[in-house]
Amino acid sequence: MLDIDNLKQELKKINGEAAKIRDLPVEQRADFGKKINAKRQEVLTKISEAEKALLDSAVEPLDITAWSGINEPLPEFYPTDMGSLHPLMSELDRVVDIYQMMGFDVVEARQLDDEFHMFDSLNFVKEHPARDGYDTFRTEEGFIPPAHTSTMQHRVLKAYRDNLKKGQAIAVVVPGRVFRNEDVDATHEHTFYQCEGVYVSKTCSLGNMLGILREFFEKYYEQKLEIRTQPGYFPFTEPSLEFLIEKPKSLGGKKGDYLEMLGCGMIHPNVLKMAGIDPEEYHGFAWGGGIDRLVMLRYGLDDVRHFESGNLKFLREF
Ligand code: DAH
Repeated sequence: MLDIDNLKQELKKINGEAAKIRDLPVEQRADFGKKINAKRQEVLTKISEAEKALLDSAVEPLDITAWSGINEPLPEFYPTDMGSLHPLMSELDRVVDIYQMMGFDVVEARQLDDEFHMFDSLNFVKEHPARDGYDTFRTEEGFIPPAHTSTMQHRVLKAYRDNLKKGQAIAVVVPGRVFRNEDVDATHEHTFYQCEGVYVSKTCSLGNMLGILREFFEKYYEQKLEIRTQPGYFPFTEPSLEFLIEKPKSLGGKKGDYLEMLGCGMIHPNVLKMAGIDPEEYHGFAWGGGIDRLVMLRYGLDDVRHFESGNLKFLREF
C-alpha cells in the first residue's frame, strides 16, 4: 500500500513539473515533453504493477467464520451465505411481543452504566452489603456493565412520569444484556439477558402484578401454569418476592417441581421519590428475570453456556 501511495505522490510531482512546459522556449518543448512523458509512463506502469500485486495477494479469501466448538476439530470451512437470529434474540422478540400485546412500551437497556443507576437510584444504601450481592465488573474509568436491567428503572420512571399526570399508567418493559462476575458453570454465565418490567399507577397492587406475570408465563409456555411466590429481598422493592412456576409436565416437570423465574415486588417509595413521583399518590410494581433460563426450560436445554459459545452445531438446531 505504502508503495502505491509513494508512486502516486511521485506521479503528482511529475504532473506538476509537466506544467512548466508553458514557460519553456518553443524549441525546447518537444524534448522536455518526451522526457516527462517517459517518466510519467514509467511511474504509471509501476502503479499498475503494484495494484495487481495487491489484488493477487488478496485472492485467498479471509475466513472470518467462527470455530464451532471446544471438542471439535477445526472445519475446512463453514458456508457463510445463510445467517439466522440467535435463539436468544428470537425468544426475546417473543417475550417482548407478549408484553406489547398486553400494552407495555419497550425500552432497550444500556450495556454500560454508572454507579448511580446500578445502585444509588435503586435505594442501595452507600457501603451496604447488598451492593456486594451483585458481582459487578467495573471499567478503569468506573463505569459498570449492568448486572441487571433494573439499572433502567430510574430512567423509565423519569421519562414516563408525565403519563401519570394525564391519568395514564406507566407500563414499560426493558430487555437487555447483563453481566456478572460469576464462576461460570452449567447454570451461571457472565453474560446473559434479562427483561425488566415497570408498572406505576394510582391504584395498582401486588395482585395486578401476579396477574400480569401469570398471563405472561402462560402465553410464553402456551399452557396453564401453577404459580407460587416466596419472600425475597431487593433494596428497591418493599415487599420483595420471588416468583415461581411449576415446571410443566410437557417440559419434563413433576408435581410440586417449582422453578424460580424472577424477582419482583412493589417499587420502594424511595425509588419513586428519587424519580420525582410522589409515593403517597402513586404505587408501582416491578420485576426482572433471566431470558436464558426461560428459553432453557422451553427447549429442555441443560447448559446455559451454549448460548454464548458460538457453537454453530447448537445454533443450527433452532
Ligand atoms: N434485578 C433483580 C435481579 O437481577 C431482579 C428484580 C427484583 C427486578 C425485583 C425488579 C424487582 O424489578 O422489582 O436480581
